Amino acid sequence: MAGDIQKIPEDRALVKIVNITKKFSEVTALENVSFDIEKGKITAILGPSGSGKSVLVKLILGLMEPTAGQIIFKGVNIFDLTKEMMYKMRESFSILLQDGALFDSMTVEENIAFPLKIRKLPKQEIKRRIDFYLENVGLAGFHRRYPSELSGGQRRRVALARALATEPEIIILDEPTTGLDPITTESIESLIINIKSQNPDKSFILITHDPFSAFKLSDNIAVLLFGKLIAYGPKNKIILLMEENKIIYDIFKRANIRLIQAV
Ligand SMILES: Nc1ncnc2c1ncn2[C@@H]1O[C@H](COP(=O)(O)OP(=O)(O)OP(=O)(O)O)[C@@H](O)[C@H]1O
Ligand SMILES: [Mg+2]
Repeated sequence: MAGDIQKIPEDRALVKIVNITKKFSEVTALENVSFDIEKGKITAILGPSGSGKSVLVKLILGLMEPTAGQIIFKGVNIFDLTKEMMYKMRESFSILLQDGALFDSMTVEENIAFPLKIRKLPKQEIKRRIDFYLENVGLAGFHRRYPSELSGGQRRRVALARALATEPEIIILDEPTTGLDPITTESIESLIINIKSQNPDKSFILITHDPFSAFKLSDNIAVLLFGKLIAYGPKNKIILLMEENKIIYDIFKRANIRLIQAV
């Protein structure tokens, strides 16, 4: 299936993942994985539990070193950067973690302000961004609430506002709808599609074990299985591959993943 992996034109590749292998003593979490994150698109990293999604994201952020391979961001292998340059590089990214990512002791506005204060933005600009991004996620006026006073879906929206407010080039969405009921899931998915359409130049990486979500939200899909990239390309192509390939189909089905609805 490696022959099905598609190449992104050089000038559209924002992050290039090149022959990445990551081993932890006896476990090979990733094996010779290569694909590009395309600028201005939503790229899903799709795979069942244990397939290497989180390890790959940690490598992209330079939070761990690969056993072999390179992550090229803006023409430079990030593992050649100095510590200071690496911190600067990470400012281009923001990550929406699963539930629990909000600070419980802080109000909604304090949560959103937190990374902006670290970046030493002026007070007025912090206030502008809090108001703008809360409105953007449909939570205008929720400034003074604490996370405990919000529903699961609202917490996810605040986390999304916080991720957007640093105005990064790349937003990583880690299982943005996992654990939410179907109606809330749909509203968060619509919100992501909406935000993407308002920000055509921003790039998103969607980490998910759910083909349905990947097919609905993303432009390109990278499918990981047991640490190997088994397919990468525009989503329509990947849907066809999954339909045709019984092994992939069965693995996702056994993992109780909504493949039937997805394809
Ligand atoms: N620090 C570590 N030390 C040893 N093994 C690790 C470490 N981190 C991850 N692994 C292993 O690497 C493999 C991939 O893990 P990873 O967390 O990337 O999976 P995942 O696709 O994110 O799964 P999930 O959907 O459950 O979050 C797993 O076998 C895991 O046990
Ligand atoms: Mg994970």
